[in-house]
Amino acid sequence: MGWGRWVPWAAGLGIAAHDLVQRRHALLRNFPVLGHGRYLIEAVGPELRQYVVAGNDEERPFSRDQRRWVYASAKLENNYFGFGTDNDVEHTPGYVIIKHRTFGRTAPAHPHPQGDDSVWLPCAKVLGAARGRRAAFRPDSAVNISGMSYGSLSGRAIEALNRGAAAAGCLQNTGEGGIAAQHRCGGELVWQIGTAYFGCRDEQGRFDLQRLKDGVAAAPVRALEIKLSQGAKPGLGGLLPGVKVTAEIAAVRGIPIGKDCVSPSRHTAFRDTDELLDWVEMLADETGLPVGIKSAVGDLEFWTELTDLMTRTGRGVDFVTVDGGEGGTGASPLVFTDSVALPFRLGFSRVYREFALRGLHEQVVFVGAGKLGLPDNAVVAFALGVDMVNVAREAMLAIGCIQAQKCHTDTCPTGVATQNRWLAHGLDPTLKSARLANYVLTLRRDLGKVAEAAGVEHPALITTDDVEILDGQTVARGLGEVYDYRPGWGLPSGPDQEEIVALLRKGRPAPS
Ligand SMILES: Cc1cc2nc3c(=O)[nH]c(=O)nc-3n(C[C@H](O)[C@H](O)[C@H](O)COP(=O)(O)O)c2cc1C
Ligand code: SF4
Repeated sequence: MGWGRWVPWAAGLGIAAHDLVQRRHALLRNFPVLGHGRYLIEAVGPELRQYVVAGNDEERPFSRDQRRWVYASAKLENNYFGFGTDNDVEHTPGYVIIKHRTFGRTAPAHPHPQGDDSVWLPCAKVLGAARGRRAAFRPDSAVNISGMSYGSLSGRAIEALNRGAAAAGCLQNTGEGGIAAQHRCGGELVWQIGTAYFGCRDEQGRFDLQRLKDGVAAAPVRALEIKLSQGAKPGLGGLLPGVKVTAEIAAVRGIPIGKDCVSPSRHTAFRDTDELLDWVEMLADETGLPVGIKSAVGDLEFWTELTDLMTRTGRGVDFVTVDGGEGGTGASPLVFTDSVALPFRLGFSRVYREFALRGLHEQVVFVGAGKLGLPDNAVVAFALGVDMVNVAREAMLAIGCIQAQKCHTDTCPTGVATQNRWLAHGLDPTLKSARLANYVLTLRRDLGKVAEAAGVEHPALITTDDVEILDGQTVARGLGEVYDYRPGWGLPSGPDQEEIVALLRKGRPAPS
């Protein structure tokens, strides 16, 4: 028996001390020593998996390859893949192929094959311009952060996203939980108004216009989004259990501390589509901001009625965010996440059709969500007519989420989706904000490079003819045929196309 037996203990304590003070890895801060197991498994995973576990494309919602791409992009590590695709291109029905052009009209803007990390990719439409909103603006980024509320995410995660949004020059959607102090760290906001009107409600839970205006005046809010439904839980309200209603969350939401907080499944400020349009116009008049709606797609009756009313009455929404049924949530019953609401491409194309048939598609900014933080999915969305993509879970991955899928249990090991102080403290908002910004810049850069390969200046100019859907080795159909689009659908108007091309040629204006 000598000093030797203490060596492993001393080493363990040393590692634990290091893990607790370091800031790079939330997992190690929260689970000193033990957390190294995850990194070890990650390191030897490819070799192990080849024999015993899943393949690179098998895990869901995000495959190992997809997560590796997000992690590497967020850390500015090598995000290339070697040896060629490991996707079963030849035998996967629905496989997407983007068609490059040998002699496109754009010469590659960047001599480096990876392009410029700070590639500028503004929206190809001016939000609110078609309806003459006083605060109409061109979003500086066609990639933005999707709604995730303070409550479903930790305060530190919200802060990391907001700082990251500021660094990447993109917008952060607040989600339906109201505007917290962590939303005021420099990033600009889209304020989401859900059925519980958090942050703009009176004591009875009814919408309160004055509180909305006060909130808009106190934060960098650029647009308002009325949430009608969410892809992962359409037609379903929400419940934040009383134990999670901390004093801070209660203050932000305007609700009592420690009591169960219910979001009803329907709005009370309007009862039908006609009243919704009145409400949209009232909000836009009172605040000057562009106003849009977010919805998952099921039955089409709402969309035909909405577009009919827009055509007949001249009232209208400035933007439409379509969330795919494959989208994420903090918590939802399995049947809703799995089986209610159409997946993004089907749902979006049906909605777009309703607008396009009535000639309204060029007057509305279309936003898409549902695993669109991956470049190939995003390109298909742009070709189908999306003007901007919103990213939620990919942004969570960028700030440390390891897809443990425990968001609904308040035990998130990386501090992203929890109100547990100990778990949240592991997440360093400053470091993670840089990761978020790196990821957004990389996605924008990849989208810019794919657009260049297809011979156009901006992904919004990629047409449905530029994308084909394979069915094995013998059948390939253009996107327009698959989704029943007419020629020209999916593109911004002629003047909008000319303007975005001219802007990109001139380059990003110097900050004022
Ligand atoms: C943790 C979490 C919380 C969310 N909270 C909201 C919310 O408050 N409001 C909303 O409209 N959508 C919410 N969503 C849905 C996302 O905004 C997004 O529409 C959906 O996850 C699809 O995007 P993704 O595939 O990039 O994650 C949430 C998603 C997650 C994962
Ligand atoms: S619980 Fe898991 S999936 Fe949810 S945010 Fe945390 S690490 Fe990610």
